[in-house]
Amino acid sequence: MTVAGRYSHLFRPLRVGPVTVANRVVFGAHRTDFAEDGLPSARHTAYYAARARGGAGLVITEAHATHPTDGHHERLVQGYRPEVLRGYRAITESVHRAGVPVLVQLAHIVVPAAAPYVRRPAWAASPVADPVARTVPKAVERHEISAIIDGYARAAELSVEGGFDGVELQCAHPSIVAAFLSPATNRRDDRYGGPLANRARLLLELIGEVRGRIGPARVLGVRLCGDELLDGGSTLADAVELARVLQATGKVDYLGTALGTAATRHVSQASMHIPAGYALHLANAVRRAVDLPVIGEGRFTDPLQADRALADGHCDLVSVVRGQIADPEFAAKARAGFPEAIRGCLSCNQGCVPGVGGPSGEGRLACAENPRVGRESEPDPAPAAASAIQGGRPGSGRWPRRARVAAPGPRPRDVLVAGAGPAGLQAAIAAARAGHRVRVCEAADAAGGQVRLAAAAPGRAEFGELVRNQLAECRRRGRVGGRAAAGGGRARRAVGGRPPVGVGAGGGRARLPRGHGRRRVPRRTRLLRGDRHAGAAGRSGARGNPRPGGLVDPRGGPGHRGDVRAPRHGGGRGGHRGPGGGVAGARADRNGRDPHGGLDGLRAAAGAPGRAVPAAPVPRRAGRAGAAGRRLRGAAPRGRGRGGR
Ligand SMILES: Cc1cc2nc3c(=O)[nH]c(=O)nc-3n(C[C@H](O)[C@H](O)[C@H](O)COP(=O)(O)O)c2cc1C
Ligand code: SF4
Repeated sequence: MTVAGRYSHLFRPLRVGPVTVANRVVFGAHRTDFAEDGLPSARHTAYYAARARGGAGLVITEAHATHPTDGHHERLVQGYRPEVLRGYRAITESVHRAGVPVLVQLAHIVVPAAAPYVRRPAWAASPVADPVARTVPKAVERHEISAIIDGYARAAELSVEGGFDGVELQCAHPSIVAAFLSPATNRRDDRYGGPLANRARLLLELIGEVRGRIGPARVLGVRLCGDELLDGGSTLADAVELARVLQATGKVDYLGTALGTAATRHVSQASMHIPAGYALHLANAVRRAVDLPVIGEGRFTDPLQADRALADGHCDLVSVVRGQIADPEFAAKARAGFPEAIRGCLSCNQGCVPGVGGPSGEGRLACAENPRVGRESEPDPAPAAASAIQGGRPGSGRWPRRARVAAPGPRPRDVLVAGAGPAGLQAAIAAARAGHRVRVCEAADAAGGQVRLAAAAPGRAEFGELVRNQLAECRRRGRVGGRAAAGGGRARRAVGGRPPVGVGAGGGRARLPRGHGRRRVPRRTRLLRGDRHAGAAGRSGARGNPRPGGLVDPRGGPGHRGDVRAPRHGGGRGGHRGPGGGVAGARADRNGRDPHGGLDGLRAAAGAPGRAVPAAPVPRRAGRAGAAGRRLRGAAPRGRGRGGR
């Protein structure tokens, strides 16, 4: 089937107000925490540009603040400050270079829980306690409402000056506009409270003012909450009625939809438990009420699902947020006819959501699938391979099945990776992309490390996609071979006895909950493995199940059995941690979570400048497989390992 036949709707252009988008894939708004001192950074520019080059039809930035009273976290872009212009121009020029329109999302966020951090009360429609933090915001007075409107208008003006094609007003989630729109949070008895016509007054005044400032040649979109899923909150019927009112203003170019609020995050950033397209009924209802283009959303990780949503008439555009965080070339790969090459988002919410969680400004957007998120501005260790899609021009169908390998550096090296968990595989991919010859050794009988265990938990099968995606990329790279190995000597023999560069990726350790006596807390890895001793095991009592000898072939072909025997015990005191090892260097994040035991390892393997073959730390209490890593590292001193080529 031709690409056009497979995606008969996704790659059709569409007029959205004054601009035309080349296809229906939207990179919707999402917080990144890339801002520096309240201003857009080089990270932003590279991040959005990568998605534009990767084929998105429309890019919408994260929410930018429109007023100083919205300072709910430190890494927020303060869109009301004229100093943003430099960063704005950098973003818009780089996205436009790929021929893609870009909008800025404008918001005034109500996060009462952040009040102690920003040292002023959060502004809101009424003093209704935050359902999560129980802190109470301040009800704005008339002059403060004027200040809110002025803030939006000024920020919109700056957006246009900075080259954006328009703005999206964030009227869902925890925005002040949503707080006015919702009967659950708006208890006012003035002209801004009561019936929907009054609750919508702030939004209508905003639209009037913003349109006045940006003029008719720019896009003005509104993202509505389709259903707050709160007792007494905004409903789908409210959203439909509001959509009609907004269309009647003649000032709005498109409508976006969202489900839930900050208190119902399990639906606003749905996990792998929830099927794709779960929020389409909102877009569908709104679309039937108005003629404006409507954006649908909700866990689209496969272009075919997105095409289906369009074909079935649920929406006119599809927002693919996490799908494009995980793979910036989501749209281009689909368009070129290589959807199997897409690194599908797992909907695991392990890197993206917790990455931007807190007000402290320590985190940043990250992704379990894509270790280069937020590092797009850093040199890619294998730029030629990375630009395979760009070289192939989206839509030309020329994205090569076997991705081009970068011209190797002065000396292509033999690289031996010990451990075929996600970090080991990612290190192998990075090294292969940089033109080196790579071997991956694994003591278990299959690749995947602890991810295989995670995928074995009920409803978590999609975790397995991570390894499937990595193995698929290994196959495409062609230069990655595999071998089972239990010890350093065997591992070394697997590459002819002289591994010049070694990467230890032998395993992460499951974090034990703080405050629990370690002897009494079963390790989750052992529970998932069905270890009958798990409940009684502690640090020193670990007795793993004997595991069969195994092999790993990252190319996915038949493996080589026989030359290597696996350790007798997969676990065991000081032993190899978990089947297939895990991720070296894995540790709990700043919030004490150990999301998947892999993000640090994946980041390490990402290929930061000069780290095509990172020398990941070997486990501290190494057993046989760990010893392999240690010996390998002995063969490849740190400096050499990091140089990599
Ligand atoms: C890390 C993260 C941050 C987000 N921040 C915003 C935001 O600033 N504004 C917004 O309207 N939606 C935001 N969202 C919600 C997304 O726009 C989208 O509704 C949600 O991710 C579901 O779409 P998806 O399944 O395609 O990821 C955010 C989502 C994520 C994952
Ligand atoms: S961290 Fe998980 S949910 Fe978030 S974008 Fe990456 S794969 Fe998707």
